[in-house]
Amino acid sequence: MTQSIRPNSFELMLNPSASSNTVYGAAQAEVLNADGLSAAKKIISRWPGYAPTPLVDLPGIAAAADTGSLHYKNEAHRFGLKSFKPLGGAYAVYRCVEAEIVKATGNSDVDPDAIMSGQFADIAAGVTVTAATDGNHGRSVAWGARMFGCRCVIFINEAVSEGREKAIAGYGAEVRRNPGSFDDAVRAAAATAGSESWHVIPDTSDGIIVEAPRNVTQGYAVMAAEAIEQLPYDGPPTHVFLQAGVGGMAAASCAQFWQSFGAGKPKIILVEPKTAACWFASLRASQPVAISGELDSLMGGLACGEVSQLAWKILKPGTDAAMTLEDEAGADTMRLLAEGRHGDTPLVAGESGVAGLAGFLAAASDVHARETLGLNGTSRVVVFGTEGATDPETYEAIVGKTPDQVAP
Ligand SMILES: Cc1ncc(COP(=O)(O)O)c(C=O)c1O
Repeated sequence: MTQSIRPNSFELMLNPSASSNTVYGAAQAEVLNADGLSAAKKIISRWPGYAPTPLVDLPGIAAAADTGSLHYKNEAHRFGLKSFKPLGGAYAVYRCVEAEIVKATGNSDVDPDAIMSGQFADIAAGVTVTAATDGNHGRSVAWGARMFGCRCVIFINEAVSEGREKAIAGYGAEVRRNPGSFDDAVRAAAATAGSESWHVIPDTSDGIIVEAPRNVTQGYAVMAAEAIEQLPYDGPPTHVFLQAGVGGMAAASCAQFWQSFGAGKPKIILVEPKTAACWFASLRASQPVAISGELDSLMGGLACGEVSQLAWKILKPGTDAAMTLEDEAGADTMRLLAEGRHGDTPLVAGESGVAGLAGFLAAASDVHARETLGLNGTSRVVVFGTEGATDPETYEAIVGKTPDQVAP
C-alpha cells in the first residue's frame, strides 16, 4: 500500500491486564451502563440538529491495507461543532443545570422539554460552569451552556491555537489562557470552581470529581451505540482502533462494544501520540502513570499526560493492545482521507480525529503487528473519525486544501 508510514514509526504493545474475553463486569457497569446510555440518548436526541452521524464504508483503504472491511464513524459534522465532543460536555452541562433546577424547585422529575424551552431560565442563569480544554471539550461545554442558558468560563493551555480559542469564545464563553499543560489547566479550572462556587465539568476524572466526567463519558457512548446499530453486518467487528487522550472516548466506545457483544467483543487497540502516551505507559505498568515534560503533539486533543480514573476502570481490563504514533502518521492520514487516495470518497478529518485510523494503517502495513493483532484479509475494522476541521487554518496547512475544497 502507498501509506507513507515509515517502518518502526510506531510502537505496539499487548495489554498485560487484558481480560476482555470475560463479560462486562460490575466495576465497569458502575461507570457506564445501559440505563445511563438510555438516559443520555433521551436527552441528546431532543437537541436541535441531532441526527446519527454517518458510518462510512472505506473499501478502498480496507483493500489497500489487506483487510476485509473498514468502517469510519464520521463526526466531522456533529451538531455543527465538527467533533463528537458535544455528546459529552454539553450533556454533562445539561445534567448540572437539571440538578440545580431540582434543588431549587424541589421537583425531582423535571421535564427535559421544559428545560429546553427555557421555562427555568432564571435558575439556569444563576449557574456558572467551567472546564479545561485543549479545544473541543471547551467548545462543547460552551455550546451546552449557551443552549441551557448558563454562564461559562473555559480554561485553555498555552498550546491551544487562536482558532480554537475564538471558536470557544464564539459560543459566548469567557476564555482564560493558563500557563503550562492541559493537565495544569484541569487543575486551574477545578481550583477556581472551588473558590468561586462554580460547577466544574471535566472530561477527565481524578477519582475525586466523578459525577460530571461520568456524564461526559456516558454521553460519548451514544456515538458508539449509533455505530453498532449502523454496522452493515451481523455480529461484532474484529478490531476497533481508538485514539486516546484522557481515555473518555475510548472507554465509552470500548464499554459499548463490550456490553453489546460480551466476550465476543472486538479487539480494542488504543492509539496515542508518542509524546503523550499516558495510556501506553499506564497499561504497561498495570497502574496509572503520569507523563511529564513536553507533551506537545500535532494531535492536540490527545496531548494529555494523565489517564482519567473512570476510563481506567474500563480500559485496563477492556483494552487488548496500545500503540504510539509519530505526529507525521496523523498528518499523512489526514491527507490520505482528503485525497480519497484509494478510491474512497474524500473526507475532512482533523489532527486528533484520525489517530485511530492512522494506528490501523501503521499496524496493517507491518507483518509483525498484523500477526500480533490477528489482522488479516477478513478482518472487520471500525475506527472513529472524532473530528473534522475544528481548526480550518491548521487543516489547510497540513492538507494543502481548505475543508470546502476537499468536501464541497
Ligand atoms: C477530536 C478528538 N478525538 C479524541 C479525543 C480524545 O478523547 P479523550 O480525551 O476522551 O480520550 C479528543 C479529546 O479532546 C478529541 O478532541
